[in-house]
Amino acid sequence: MMQDYSSEFSGRKVFITGGSRGIGAAIAQRLLDGGAQVAVSARSKTEDIPSGAIFIKGDISTAEGANVLAKEVLETLGGIDILINNAGSARVHLAGSAGIPDEEWLDALNLNFLSAVRTTTTLLPALKESSNGSIVNISSGGPNAFMAPLLHYGAAKAALNSYSLGLAAELAPKIRVNVVTPGMVITPGADEIRKVFTDAMGVPEGAMGGMVPLGRMGNASEIAEVVALLTSDRGNWITGQNYFVDGGMGNIGRK
Ligand SMILES: NC(=O)c1ccc[n+]([C@@H]2O[C@H](COP(=O)([O-])OP(=O)(O)OC[C@H]3O[C@@H](n4cnc5c(N)ncnc54)[C@H](OP(=O)(O)O)[C@@H]3O)[C@@H](O)[C@H]2O)c1
Repeated sequence: MMQDYSSEFSGRKVFITGGSRGIGAAIAQRLLDGGAQVAVSARSKTEDIPSGAIFIKGDISTAEGANVLAKEVLETLGGIDILINNAGSARVHLAGSAGIPDEEWLDALNLNFLSAVRTTTTLLPALKESSNGSIVNISSGGPNAFMAPLLHYGAAKAALNSYSLGLAAELAPKIRVNVVTPGMVITPGADEIRKVFTDAMGVPEGAMGGMVPLGRMGNASEIAEVVALLTSDRGNWITGQNYFVDGGMGNIGRK
């Protein structure tokens, strides 16, 4: 018998950072489809934001920005059950890590790591009020993250992984905390980053999909599906885990 998941998030309040496009927008759509009330944030509004989501504008890469956003989320939703720390990005430095300026190391840490810490810390008292509290942090662990041109980004995501594991231990059994690590997923931001690499290698933009054991790049909805599993009651006995959703790239792709 087919399961019906169309109301499993009914009554749940969700905040997704970086929900204006790509993976964040797909998560927003998936949780809306399950009946959640969803707020998303970004610096700019886009047409990719699902029509049922509430948009909250702001820059999450500063302490003040993250705290103001989190407070606005509580004013708007009146509480929170599910937090998805998804916003993230970095600039590619083809010359390698020595060419990454100090301010870009700080930018990478602020956006990819500290934004999640600050948002979580501000929302924690409200999350503790929920009987279904759950956090998912969107990381990166594939070959792209730990390549020299993206070392600042990879190091920030490694910090996010470490933080997530510690937080899962600290907050159990009240709040579950998990990480989802996407592989190469087709999104506006990641497509731009990959284009820098494929241009430098002189290969077509689609060539990277051939490196994936399952033969193609992923779709944002395939990441959203795992986030839905982890944040729903179906994931009630899962915490402190890092789920690789990457077509096999992380574990078998480089053997
Ligand atoms: N797609 C992949 O292949 C891939 C692989 C591994 C990991 N990931 C991770 O998945 C997450 C989502 O990536 P994506 O590929 O969907 O990226 P994307 O298409 O670039 O979307 C990024 C989102 O974050 C927001 N954002 C960026 N900087 C921000 C800032 N300073 N303040 C507030 N919001 C900000 C963007 O909106 P604004 O620019 O308007 O602010 C946008 O909504 C990221 O954490 C990324 O590291 C993606």
